[in-house]
Amino acid sequence: MSNYKELYEQSLNQPEEFWGEVAADLSWEKPWSRVLDMDAKPVPKWFPDAEINTCYNAVDRHVEAGRGDQNAIIYDSPITDSQQKITYAELQSLVSKFAGGLKSLGVEKGDRVIIYMPMIPEAAIAMLACARLGAIHSVVFGGFAANELATRIDDAKPKAIVSASCGIEPSRVIEYKPLLDEAMKIASHTVQSCIVKARPQAEATLVEGRDVDWDTLAEQAEPADCVSVKATDPLYILYTSGTTGQPKGVIRDNGGHAVAMHWTMKNIYNVDAGDVYWAASDVGWVVGHSYIVYAPLLKGCTTVIYEGKPVGTPDAGAFWRVIEEHQVKVLFTAPTAFRAIKKEDSEGELLNNYNIDCLQSLFLAGERCDPDTLFWAREKLNIPVVDHWWQTETGWAITANPLGIEEMEIKPGSPTVPMPGYDVQVLASDGSEMPSNEMGDIVIKLPMAPGCLPTLWGNDERFQSAYLEQYPGYYLTGDAGFKDDDGYLWIMSRTDDVINVAGHRLSTGAMEEVLAGHPDVAECAVFGVADDFKGQMPLGLVVLKDGADRTIEELGPELIKRVRGQIGPVAAFKMVTIVQRLPKTRSGKILRGTMVNIADNTPWNMPATIDDPVILDEITDALKNMGYAKDA
Ligand code: COA
Ligand code: AMP
Repeated sequence: MSNYKELYEQSLNQPEEFWGEVAADLSWEKPWSRVLDMDAKPVPKWFPDAEINTCYNAVDRHVEAGRGDQNAIIYDSPITDSQQKITYAELQSLVSKFAGGLKSLGVEKGDRVIIYMPMIPEAAIAMLACARLGAIHSVVFGGFAANELATRIDDAKPKAIVSASCGIEPSRVIEYKPLLDEAMKIASHTVQSCIVKARPQAEATLVEGRDVDWDTLAEQAEPADCVSVKATDPLYILYTSGTTGQPKGVIRDNGGHAVAMHWTMKNIYNVDAGDVYWAASDVGWVVGHSYIVYAPLLKGCTTVIYEGKPVGTPDAGAFWRVIEEHQVKVLFTAPTAFRAIKKEDSEGELLNNYNIDCLQSLFLAGERCDPDTLFWAREKLNIPVVDHWWQTETGWAITANPLGIEEMEIKPGSPTVPMPGYDVQVLASDGSEMPSNEMGDIVIKLPMAPGCLPTLWGNDERFQSAYLEQYPGYYLTGDAGFKDDDGYLWIMSRTDDVINVAGHRLSTGAMEEVLAGHPDVAECAVFGVADDFKGQMPLGLVVLKDGADRTIEELGPELIKRVRGQIGPVAAFKMVTIVQRLPKTRSGKILRGTMVNIADNTPWNMPATIDDPVILDEITDALKNMGYAKDA
């Protein structure tokens, strides 16, 4: 079969045949007797009685099949001016040694391990080592502060933390050890061991009895073998932003995930074993988990781990250099990276310095791809530019243009069509299906495709209430949009308080909690306003407590520092002002959506339930003073 429509329909009508056939491409420790258990709770489960080891499939299998001398990882770090190539055989040795090291510290199947690392190969090695042992990793993005790390420590209760002495941003070296020590102090859970990879840019002080040097540990360790785990056992937990300050621990299982990852490489990205694939993201995000580490390695590709930025390391030609030097076939990044390049080199002149004929396609995700960025990339690169839509929860594209199956027409602004396994529908609030071209809640009819989250870590109830309750039998994506007459999806906005800043998913609710904790703040609202470069930027409005005599010049920097200190620099919280009152409904709900519309100059109607419309005039003035609401 070679056409999208047939494949898609087969995947929905005969899911067991479809995914059973796909799964046969991997090595299983124990085969399945059923592909799908529709009765499993809270959602149907894939390969319920099978066993597998994800690390074996991503590493050892390729060595056994003769790929030992092929590069598995190319580490390219303009920020430290260094590079390293690791073959599959070397990766097998590094991973099994480090897994042995973890084992010697008592890490076993089912134990959690937090990984807080920069973009160095050891991050992927640590993830794979956990997978080898059947331990569950939870990678925390380096741009999060100690407080966020502590929240994750208390939720995941890890036996060990794996880290490095520092991460490196263009403007500064970030020492990780003080952050880790602080996080472990804040957390109530006690972590037994902390393994630190020493980097020359910063020295870490190790606490005797708890902290261990990575190199010493790996050197002394006996290599560990792959441990067979249930296909439904968790491979990892990845925390993502929800509506509150408590992040959601998205679980990924082993079997369904490996099957989906492997399938996508050929069918969506059109790459084969041996090809060089580069996801310019970070291992701390889902794109990094899926497309820097697991999918390319499961397929037998060479993956690029890039420690640098699209611009400034050293210039806007950085991506072209990496593509040429390592002969990258497919690049995957966020639209914001291309907006950064376009801003610095609008004519794409730096492209003339490189030959990037090897590049076959560019995939973008993480935020809506604005048509201008898509046109610019397409014109400069002269290859298919594919916007595809997905979430941490799904782990892979819900909608895409499946280049390996059939190249569909590209409609700029739409991330194309649903992928096999995803029955995507657009519903009205009463649960009926919306007609074509009309906006509604985007949902996925159960079962979700293999690889999608089976639940939230330790919290079936939150999983149920956040995703399953609103439309029984469907998973609520949290995105709103519509399907056009050709079945293309158009993703228009989030229906919750999640915003997307430079392709990073952030919770405005979490920022509000931090602002509300300031002794002078009575109440506050944070919402995302449109930004040409980062897509959205958070903007905060605070109401002072009676008697708090503060100016914004004084209070503003304190509030900004507070968010940076408690959530992290990645929150990019830089805009805040004081207002007298916040607009609310009569039942007391803050009208954030209306304020977003005013700030962005998008049409809006006076909410029928507003308590006092005059407040909106005050808010408009405040937003104007901040450079927004220009036409209001
Ligand atoms: N560790 C510590 N701090 C980090 C960090 C990390 N891993 N990553 C980002 N930060 C910091 C940045 O230094 C910045 O700090 P600053 O306020 O002192 O300048 C802050 O967090 C905000 O970062 P970001 O929003 O990424 O802005 P930026 O100006 O540094 O970079 C881009 C902008 C577009 C170049 C960058 O976001 C990018 O390359 N994005 C595309 C790829 C991507 O990450 N996609 C994610 C999902 S696919
Ligand atoms: P994350 O979980 O960080 O991957 O963020 C997922 C959210 O980012 C989605 O629910 C969307 O709101 C948004 N998103 C990701 N990719 C796209 C896309 N291609 N088009 C529109 N929105 C996107």
